Amino acid sequence: MSALPAPPSVPLDRRGRPLRDLRLSVIEACNFRCGYCMPADRVPEGYGFDQAGRLSFDEIETLVRGFVRLGTHKLRLTGGEPLLRKGLPALVARLARIPGIDDLAMTTNASLLARHAQALRDAGLQRLTISLDALDPALFRALSGGRGEIADVLAGIDAAERVGFGPIKFNCVVQRGVNDHEVERMAAHFRGSGHVLRFIEYMDVGTCNGWDRARVVPSRELRDRLHARWPLHALDANYRGEVAERHAFDDGAGEIGFISSVTAPFCGDCRRARVSADGSLYTCLFAGRGHDLRPALAEGEAAFSERLAALWMQRADRYSELRGSPRAPRRHVEMFLVGG
Ligand SMILES: C[S@@+](CC[C@H](N)C(=O)[O-])C[C@H]1O[C@@H](n2cnc3c(N)ncnc32)[C@H](O)[C@@H]1O
Ligand code: SF4
Repeated sequence: MSALPAPPSVPLDRRGRPLRDLRLSVIEACNFRCGYCMPADRVPEGYGFDQAGRLSFDEIETLVRGFVRLGTHKLRLTGGEPLLRKGLPALVARLARIPGIDDLAMTTNASLLARHAQALRDAGLQRLTISLDALDPALFRALSGGRGEIADVLAGIDAAERVGFGPIKFNCVVQRGVNDHEVERMAAHFRGSGHVLRFIEYMDVGTCNGWDRARVVPSRELRDRLHARWPLHALDANYRGEVAERHAFDDGAGEIGFISSVTAPFCGDCRRARVSADGSLYTCLFAGRGHDLRPALAEGEAAFSERLAALWMQRADRYSELRGSPRAPRRHVEMFLVGG
């Protein structure tokens, strides 16, 4: 890892959690309308495309440098759909050069990846996570709100492999009665590929997805199902605070993961901050309000990191542990604003 600028101090939040991981949305628009995130009947077609007020690349670079001063070393770009942000490879190249960022990743629906994979790799993007909830073409199209074609995603995956991304992580959000019958097919597809498929519990993010707990498929149920077909064994976490529980196929066909934010909350070790494309800080995926970082950004990296430290030290969020209790906040930021 490259030499870090000396952090003034590494702030801890009110539950003793450090700030290690930044999820940065580069755009609020998306070309899909997944029902659990940005349902078409709640979010207009042109949403986010003409919004002024997105952070510029200069502001983003200052922001990331300010985060690094406080101990952040993992950065993930997200959206909306990040590949819709104009000039993204140029931004990636600037961020890849920041000393202290030792993990630079992006989450994408991959529908536009075939045409961008090479430029992103050349710019220094290290890792990709691709969201993929079904392989069946008709179901895939339906889940994307009628916008996406599985063939485009598969072409994006091919391109990513060709330019040297790998292992790639695949995120599959499972909903009972919607795509839970695709689970074995997805596992069979990725077994032996060298990539890592992770099943994610459907979450009550945002305000517009009409979340219904009955549609959550607990990870334990999926793991038992898969274990019955292909025996699995548990693996240790790669690092503290890793959200996926890792498993490996006993027959050596690789790794698979489960992210259980609903049935096994991981708030206690959450070291992640989220920033929306317009520069608001959210200290939890389920936070009701953000903090506008732009005034502090305008004062430069040092002043910004002081303001950020002050905000982080006020943080006490643990929504997933409170879910269902009267103390759990009701309003949540929309998923398409903070990007997962
Ligand atoms: C909001 S998207 C942004 C990046 C990009 N558009 C994509 O889909 O990969 C990030 C991740 O959030 C996940 N997500 C969105 N809504 C969700 C929900 N209600 N429950 C669980 N995961 C969700 C998506 O499946 C995706 O993997
Ligand atoms: S999950 Fe990703 S692809 Fe789907 S609507 Fe949300 S931002 Fe778009």
